[in-house]
Amino acid sequence: MANEPIIEAQGLTKRFPDQQKKTAKKKSVEAVSDLTFQVARGELVAFLGPNGAGKSTSLRMLTTLIPPTSGTARVVGHDILSRPADVRARIGYVGQLTSGSFSQRARDELLSQGAFYGMSKAASKARADELIESLDLSGFANRAVQQLSGGQKRRLDVALGLMHAPPLIFLDEPSTGLDPQSRANLWQHILDLRQKYGTTVFLTTHYLEEADRYAERVMVMDKGRVIADDTATALKANLAGDVLTFGFASKADAAAAVAVIQRLTDREVRLTEDGTVSLTAPDGDALLPTAVRALDAAGIQVARATGVPPTLDDVFLALTGRTLREAGEGEPTEEEDSTGQGDGPDEKNRDAADAASGSAELAAEKTGARR
Ligand SMILES: Nc1ncnc2c1ncn2[C@@H]1O[C@H](COP(=O)(O)OP(=O)(O)OP(=O)(O)O)[C@@H](O)[C@H]1O
Ligand SMILES: [Mg+2]
Repeated sequence: MANEPIIEAQGLTKRFPDQQKKTAKKKSVEAVSDLTFQVARGELVAFLGPNGAGKSTSLRMLTTLIPPTSGTARVVGHDILSRPADVRARIGYVGQLTSGSFSQRARDELLSQGAFYGMSKAASKARADELIESLDLSGFANRAVQQLSGGQKRRLDVALGLMHAPPLIFLDEPSTGLDPQSRANLWQHILDLRQKYGTTVFLTTHYLEEADRYAERVMVMDKGRVIADDTATALKANLAGDVLTFGFASKADAAAAVAVIQRLTDREVRLTEDGTVSLTAPDGDALLPTAVRALDAAGIQVARATGVPPTLDDVFLALTGRTLREAGEGEPTEEEDSTGQGDGPDEKNRDAADAASGSAELAAEKTGARR
């Protein structure tokens, strides 16, 4: 159905055995807890969160690389548990790890990928040429993959994930390690894809300004749970707000100013030790000139006034009390492993996929024999 969501996750949960706890009672780590959300066709969604938040684990479940401990999802119209092959045929996936060392030329790697997805030679060649052009790979398309730089390999990874023109692509940190120009190029390509083919893009990134600028929807994850899901603009307006700061000639003026500004807003107006007055307000750009006029009218001269718009890091801070930088490696929930059987097979699954270390992890897993 055209209006059916392209991703529909229902209570997706993943518990891993905690390898460090070899005590009598086996503990497990809940990497992802009760993930429930929908993505409409054509959306561009960015998944944000500190290291260990559960982003990759979520993507690995949605792409059928690992089974959930509980819950399920429909992806491009098929259930990840009962119809994994149908899901895989309709998605692209570029894993977090970069490609390994292949002696194949980059162009041949793309052609093999096309063949793997059942594309004709002519169609593979045309698509490879198109991707080589749009991802700026032409300078090294005839070089062996193992000779490419990290950023060049990453662009090849993305091209591999896009070879069969899937309606939905998952990208796990596609831009990590790229230089600013390559990042901008990659984003341009992602935006073009959506424009041209209506591709739905679900990606993770640690670059907050990228999510802010390009994604129309941001899902914030922390300790295995989605703690916010909205447009970047709405998240910033509702959860953070502009930081307004006023400077005065004297501390007495500053103290008097607090009362004047406080009458204009229900947000707390603070007097700092260095004599500046500050507050955080969602409508800061309108409040700033109003406050300056009110202070003028009250005979208090404003020496400086600045308004700094919030970032997505301010949103995370407002939600969790930690900045994204501080939050790295947050401890996921620990639980007693009631099943007692752990996730041994998943562990192998991940290892196998990682060991294959294909340019597109999913394809690598599927094409293990080819490599
Ligand atoms: N196979 C596994 N076995 C045990 N624990 C795992 C396994 N895979 C992931 N974890 C744990 O699950 C949690 C979530 O990991 P995940 O890779 O999903 O995080 P992430 O949000 O992608 O982080 P990053 O930003 O660092 O890539 C972490 O605590 C991680 O150590
Ligand atoms: Mg990850």
